[in-house]
Amino acid sequence: MQRSFVMIKSDGVKRGLVGEVIGRLERKGYSILEAKLTTPDRATVEEHYAEHKERPFFGELVNFILEGPVMAMVVEGENVIEVIRLMVGDKDPRQAAPGTIRGDFANSTTKNIIHASDSVESAEREINIWFSK
Ligand code: CDP
Ligand code: MG
Repeated sequence: MQRSFVMIKSDGVKRGLVGEVIGRLERKGYSILEAKLTTPDRATVEEHYAEHKERPFFGELVNFILEGPVMAMVVEGENVIEVIRLMVGDKDPRQAAPGTIRGDFANSTTKNIIHASDSVESAEREINIWFSK
């Protein structure tokens, strides 16, 4: 069994997509082990996106996440990391396939509803950031 860190971003919460996203994960057969609606501080979001610190979109990204509460979750299942990334879809709206969460609900590269860990190492790091404090 594997665990992923999944976050419904501030746009997803604002747009009322929490139930939709959690429903998709549940119907896929995954277990929600932890879930909290939380308004993070800037340091937490900057740590979460540390790999993008030098990128030109970093400031805009962090400010966007801080616009409102996010739904932070730990999701468990077989190969959950890779499969949820498939369910999430591409960050570029031109590439996000219909049927994926971003393909169905996002039209912006920044405001794209959901984050999901991209590796076992990222999942461990992110779960620690969001659920050990
Ligand atoms: O979220 P994902 O892992 O699919 O993409 P990423 O390349 O790791 O980028 C993290 C997040 O930064 C994206 O989900 C977008 O919200 C944001 N981003 C952006 O605002 N502009 C870009 N050109 C690339 C990413
Ligand atoms: Mg990423």
